[in-house]
Amino acid sequence: MRAEFTRVSWVNDPSVQDSSELPIRVVLGSDHGGLSLKNELAQYLTSQAIVVTDLGTHTADSVDYPEFGAAVGRAVVAGDAEFGVAVCGSGLGICIAANKIDGVRAVTIHDVTSARLSRAHNDANVICLGERLIGREVAKEALDVFLATAFEGGRHANRVHSLDALLTQQM
Ligand code: RB5
Repeated sequence: MRAEFTRVSWVNDPSVQDSSELPIRVVLGSDHGGLSLKNELAQYLTSQAIVVTDLGTHTADSVDYPEFGAAVGRAVVAGDAEFGVAVCGSGLGICIAANKIDGVRAVTIHDVTSARLSRAHNDANVICLGERLIGREVAKEALDVFLATAFEGGRHANRVHSLDALLTQQM
């Protein structure tokens, strides 16, 4: 069954009157280790009328994950998409890279519950997956839940603001 996706970022944009009419936008990126899962997820999202931007990589040639994780993070922070999907072999390196971008809250996800909590409590905006570690169906379900879960705000809001403030603090 298809999840009902929320338009979380659009809802927060005062210039958007009726967010329910707007498509959700997702930007994807991977290194060679995540190429196949990234491509499958891009197709999966496209089949659900989600607007997808694929930042690569596009071939099996060996590439470095920092470039692609950072590209996904920059696109989300720039507002080109509501959410990012970053895939590498483990889901780890590309997540570290995405989190280097100010405003990104990227999480490596292996299960559906973590996907839900990362949105509800942490307002995560980039989901990272490890092609060599996660099953395809779990990856799709986790992605569905990630996109469909709204940030709860409330007691979590200050914590998320504190998270974002850390990047601008100097030692
Ligand atoms: C590439 O072989 C692999 O190191 C990369 O995809 C990722 O797992 C790094 O964290």
